[in-house]
Amino acid sequence: MLKYGLIGMGGLGKLHLSNLDKIGKKRGDICLKAICGATKEDLKKSVGLNIGTVDVSKVNVDNCNFYGDYKELFENEELDFVVAAIPTYLHKEIAVYALEHGVSILSEKPMALTLDGCDRMIEAANKSGKHLMIGHCMRFYSTYSKLKEIVDSGIYGKVYRAEFTRYSQMPKWTWNNWILDPEMSGGCPLDLHVHDVDMMNYIFGSPKSLFSTATNKKVELESIFTQYYYEDGMVVISGADWSLPDTYKFNAQCMVNFEKAAAVIKDNELTIYTDDEVIKPELSGESEFISELNAFIDMVKTGEKSKVTSPESIRETVRIIKAEVESAKTRKIIEL
Ligand SMILES: NC(=O)c1ccc[n+]([C@@H]2O[C@H](COP(=O)([O-])OP(=O)(O)OC[C@H]3O[C@@H](n4cnc5c(N)ncnc54)[C@H](O)[C@@H]3O)[C@@H](O)[C@H]2O)c1
Repeated sequence: MLKYGLIGMGGLGKLHLSNLDKIGKKRGDICLKAICGATKEDLKKSVGLNIGTVDVSKVNVDNCNFYGDYKELFENEELDFVVAAIPTYLHKEIAVYALEHGVSILSEKPMALTLDGCDRMIEAANKSGKHLMIGHCMRFYSTYSKLKEIVDSGIYGKVYRAEFTRYSQMPKWTWNNWILDPEMSGGCPLDLHVHDVDMMNYIFGSPKSLFSTATNKKVELESIFTQYYYEDGMVVISGADWSLPDTYKFNAQCMVNFEKAAAVIKDNELTIYTDDEVIKPELSGESEFISELNAFIDMVKTGEKSKVTSPESIRETVRIIKAEVESAKTRKIIEL
């Protein structure tokens, strides 16, 4: 039985708690022991996310200890893993602390605010021999996984162009509004746009160079739009904006142009268009968050590394974003 804890009980922490509870009931090999960042009372309050409402009031926490300070949690508990969904400026600090205390960690995206932070996390994981996984859940989406499979297969020829966009109302729902301060979250590029940059990196690898523009009208770094150039001539464009009015409904879209087809991901559906037909590939119905958590638990249990994600590949995503912010500031093309 693997013993686990959760750190951070905001929107995503509650979603992870709810999913881990379901997973525990299904696979029967994990057991909740500790929660940091909330009281038993706090768990009675449901929380609204852009993907629906999360209610954890029915989760059984009878054998769970509650902590206000994550250091106390690691001192008092013997855990196999923790899942941390805390503000981004704490990602490095808490991941390094967990790993140095011999506990594997699934730490939410983005990996860290700086490349140095990413390196410290990788170093701590390597030294401890424990597992570090970054919560880039899109690597576990059935739509994007299928898209990668199609690209890798070459069935529709080479890709010559791709496009990823992500638009959101302004995120005003986080604890102390930490997300709107780029010093704490990295702004829209590192918080929201990072999902698409990681997908681009996962499916196509790193570009050769890029050019970005950003806006700072309502809050600093509220939007970023980038063109990426690849060695073989392929171009990718991607952008994100989180300064839209409150009534705007979040959406994300992706289009990939192959020599013989175009693939579109929209409203959680993948569609392939050829000159002759429109194809809807069959997809697994599992939620990306459940798949991600199962992959992490399997890694902790078996010791086998994930084939879908690694801290090193996610560090590269952070490196691309850093270059984008630099390009937007200097108005120069950046070679990677
Ligand atoms: N994978 C995804 O799709 C996705 C979606 C949303 C958020 N996230 C990530 O999850 C993380 C949390 O985001 P959120 O939206 O839940 O934020 P949030 O502000 O709703 O929640 C953060 C929680 O952390 C707690 N906290 C702050 N300092 C703490 C500390 N020292 N110890 C313990 N708890 C502490 C706060 O009390 C709060 O409850 C962020 O890194 C964000 O990027 C990922």
